[in-house]
Amino acid sequence: MAEPVTYEAGARETLAPGEVRVVPLGIDAHGLPREALVLLDAGGALRVWVNLCQHIPIPLDSGSREFWDGERRHLICLTHGATYRPRDGVCTAGPCEGERLQAVPHEVRDGVILLFEPPDPED
Ligand code: FES
Repeated sequence: MAEPVTYEAGARETLAPGEVRVVPLGIDAHGLPREALVLLDAGGALRVWVNLCQHIPIPLDSGSREFWDGERRHLICLTHGATYRPRDGVCTAGPCEGERLQAVPHEVRDGVILLFEPPDPED
C-alpha cells in the first residue's frame, strides 16, 4: 500500500495565536491548487481547514491572505462575508450558514505539524 501523501506545516511550537499558516496541498481532482489553513482556535487547539468557502468554492481570502473578521474571532470569506468558527469550521453566518469547512487530517510528529491529503469532497 502506498504511503499517504503528507505535507509539512512547520513546527507546532512556533504557531502563534492568531496566526494562519497557509500550506499548499497539491492539486485537487479538477486540477486546481488546494491550500490548508493551519491555526490555533481560541482554546489553543490545533485546527486545519481547507481554504475553500462552502458557498462558492473559492479561497476564503481570495488571495489577500486576510482570514479573520474584525474581532479576530471567526475566519471570514472575503467574497460574501460568510464567517466560520475556527474550532469546528461551522459557518455561523452568511450564505452557507450551518455548513462546515473541510477538515485536513493532521498530526504532530516530533514537534512538526504533518498534514495528510484530504479526500476530494466529490469522492
Ligand atoms: S463565496 Fe464565500 S461567502 Fe460567498
